[in-house]
Amino acid sequence: MSQMLTITRPDDWHLHLRDVNDGRLQTVVNDTAKVMGRAIVMPNLKPAIVTVAQASSYRDRILSLLPAGSKFEPLMTLYLTDKTSPSEIKLAKESGFVKAVKYYPAGATTNSEDGVTDIKKVYPALEEMQSLGIPLLVHGEVVDPSVDVFDREAVFIDRVLQPLILDLSEMKVVVEHVTTREAVQFVIDASDNIGATITVQHLLYNRNAMLVGGIRPHFYCLPVLKRDIHQEALIAAATSGNKKFFLGSDSAPHFLTLKENSCGCAGCYTAMAAIELYATAFEKAGAIDKLEGFASFYGADFYGLPRNTDKITLERSATPRQLPRSIPCGRDNFIVPFPQETDIYWKLVG
Ligand code: DOR
Ligand code: ZN
Repeated sequence: MSQMLTITRPDDWHLHLRDVNDGRLQTVVNDTAKVMGRAIVMPNLKPAIVTVAQASSYRDRILSLLPAGSKFEPLMTLYLTDKTSPSEIKLAKESGFVKAVKYYPAGATTNSEDGVTDIKKVYPALEEMQSLGIPLLVHGEVVDPSVDVFDREAVFIDRVLQPLILDLSEMKVVVEHVTTREAVQFVIDASDNIGATITVQHLLYNRNAMLVGGIRPHFYCLPVLKRDIHQEALIAAATSGNKKFFLGSDSAPHFLTLKENSCGCAGCYTAMAAIELYATAFEKAGAIDKLEGFASFYGADFYGLPRNTDKITLERSATPRQLPRSIPCGRDNFIVPFPQETDIYWKLVG
């Protein structure tokens, strides 16, 4: 007997779409537009999307690749640099399509070289964002080489985030891809203008999946998977019905050869089955009834956007399927959908 689950169409509040040059944009747009109503599109391209003009042409490239009749809406972001001016922030607000600004500490992750070297340098831009109500999306990890990679998020909260929200107490902030119980607690304790996204890989796995029996590069993302107590805190937060926590997959496609490499890059390509994987995580926690709020309501509410009104249907089949070993992308490249060799019981059917 199969079980059906119908929920309001979800949105993805943290997504990497990449660009047309190497074929990844088309692949990711296809996988995303099948199910998501909207997505917050990350700006960490090469070169980074630092101006509204760049965001506008990137948006046009995305829209031009949408399947006919698709209503998918890309919500654009700007990449914050030491040089971002308050006037660019004003333009972002006026554009209507730039919905947030992304803060990467320089050197923290993929294509973050042009990120912020010292948060104090960007206060004029942040003050403008605060007054215009533009959310700051934070990659919350310190880059201090003396800090252990597993502690970088917790240290970031103490050193950067706590002081920041004291200085700019009205600013909307999304702590992206929270991975620790410290981050979960920080968000719970903070005011209602602080929210957080949670990825599905951090709900389904902990660092054992990446490191036991060999190094599994497809489980490597940033912030890195943590130990089980943190995974449990994330599951509890996501399934709690607390409106501060919402879906942001951080799906990040990298080519197979760059993941299966002596220096494999960070990112899990979850877009191929994102909502099915979230359903799996919520079902495992005995909280499938909490999926709709997390996936379809709370993110829109946080951003002050209308909730989607149409529905999607998932079927839980008695016969599981597995994702393909790889999918062709562009001319000679492949992407490995995440997770491999895992039975998936949920499937999008409508
Ligand atoms: O794992 C990650 N991949 N984390 C990030 O912060 C960036 C992303 C990417 O762009 O590949
Ligand atoms: Zn990301």
